[in-house]
Amino acid sequence: MSELLKKLNEYLNGLPIKLQDHLHRTAKLGRELSILHEVNEEKVFVSCIAHDIAKKLNNDEILEESIQNKLTISFEEEKSPILMHGPLAAFWLRKKFKCKDQEIIDSVFFHTTGRPYMSQIEKVVFLADKVEPKKVESNPDLLEVLDVCQSDLDLAIFKYLEMKIRQLLNQGVIIHPLAIEARNFYMK
Ligand SMILES: [Fe+2]
Ligand SMILES: [Fe+2]
Repeated sequence: MSELLKKLNEYLNGLPIKLQDHLHRTAKLGRELSILHEVNEEKVFVSCIAHDIAKKLNNDEILEESIQNKLTISFEEEKSPILMHGPLAAFWLRKKFKCKDQEIIDSVFFHTTGRPYMSQIEKVVFLADKVEPKKVESNPDLLEVLDVCQSDLDLAIFKYLEMKIRQLLNQGVIIHPLAIEARNFYMK
């Protein structure tokens, strides 16, 4: 695990500073939530550091790289290639970084949309990405989600997805079906 983290940190140095900072803030919150909810801290930390490694690519590059590597691409992902940055990062983790830990790979793969039946690690990584301090600062509505994260991960996921899906509908943009499935799954 430390070898993987070392390789990732070297890779991070080549990413834009803003992205590096987001990855570090996510990993810090991920660590705090792991301790609070007794989730494997190391796996969460590595997943958080890795989750956006494909985000330096633009939409065209994400699509091209996904096609070249024969990743499965849904029509929603084809229309909105940014939705593939998680699956592509998960693929890179396995191929370039030789990561064999399926829980880490899944956390990275599904970090954008969530999905039903998420592992505890997936939940913490998903939420840490969504409510790291900078994101809450730019959208104070997320404070409530951050607050619920302390006591109930499932409810926090539901609340976040409710908010996000509504926002995406208002913007008239593509909504990934997994986000809707996850929202329904985590509804009490
Ligand atoms: Fe992301
Ligand atoms: Fe992110």
